[in-house]
Amino acid sequence: MEKRRVMTLAVVVVFAMIFLAVTSRSQEDVTHVQDSAFGQRMRPPVPFAHDEHNEQAEIEDCNVCHHLYDENGQLVEDESSEDSECSECHASNEQSYPITLVQLYHNRCKGCHLEKKAGPVMCAECHPRR
Ligand code: HEC
Ligand code: HEC
Ligand code: HEC
Ligand code: HEC
Repeated sequence: MEKRRVMTLAVVVVFAMIFLAVTSRSQEDVTHVQDSAFGQRMRPPVPFAHDEHNEQAEIEDCNVCHHLYDENGQLVEDESSEDSECSECHASNEQSYPITLVQLYHNRCKGCHLEKKAGPVMCAECHPRR
């Protein structure tokens, strides 16, 4: 290969690496639920050690939380929406305070804790005081 082409290739590779480093947030890094739809929070972000939580809770399917539905409103079994925040689909057209989004988080998180009789259900357990 001529030298210029090798150089071009090297530049492309470097840019690809930078792009990946910037864009791929992995679930290991998630320590809190911090949906960007909440501009001004009333409470501090909710502690949620993603991988640890899901291991302890023995949740196998990512789409228990990161679900995806088809045009007919049917859950797509083997797919997940892990790259989207909940708010990208829910309550995106509400203006100042997305109360529906709060309810959906509560339904999903607290709902399972109630059902399994494990995990926090009191406000202050998920929302530690400042
Ligand atoms: C109990 C619910 C739950 C389960 C189960 C779950 N996640 Fe998540 N995941 C979340 C929440 C909440 C966030 C944080 C969203 C936010 O606020 O940005 C998140 C974030 C992520 C992110 C970061 C997304 C981003 O926008 O940067 C990835 C990647 C991810 N999850 C992958 C997975 C994978 C893979 C699985 C299955 C092995 C999984 N999750 C199972 C709740 C869950
Ligand atoms: C790719 C789009 C999409 C993403 C991302 C998404 N949802 Fe959903 N969700 C839907 C759709 C579509 C439905 C079914 C139709 C409906 O009831 O709104 C649904 C239904 C639900 C329901 C049951 C409906 C109810 O009223 O109780 C809950 C709870 C829920 N989502 C919570 C969440 C949470 C929490 C997250 C983030 C971890 C999330 N969703 C991410 C699209 C999405
Ligand atoms: C499908 C069921 C399920 C869902 C959905 C779920 N949890 Fe849990 N969670 C559990 C179980 C089971 C435990 C208890 C695990 C154990 O034995 O310690 C738990 C424990 C916890 C704990 C205490 C232990 C720890 O990891 O710090 C917190 C905090 C928590 N959950 C937050 C959340 C939040 C926030 C969400 C929503 C984004 C959520 N959970 C969604 C099942 C669930
Ligand atoms: C199982 C955990 C859990 C419990 C229990 C819980 N919440 Fe939440 N709540 C969440 C999660 C997760 C969010 C989304 C947080 C985010 O993205 O910043 C949330 C969001 C909120 C928000 C919107 C964000 C903000 O700070 O303004 C309010 C307000 C709120 N919860 C109040 C309450 C109150 C009041 C209670 C008790 C009645 C309660 N929550 C119980 C998990 C929980």
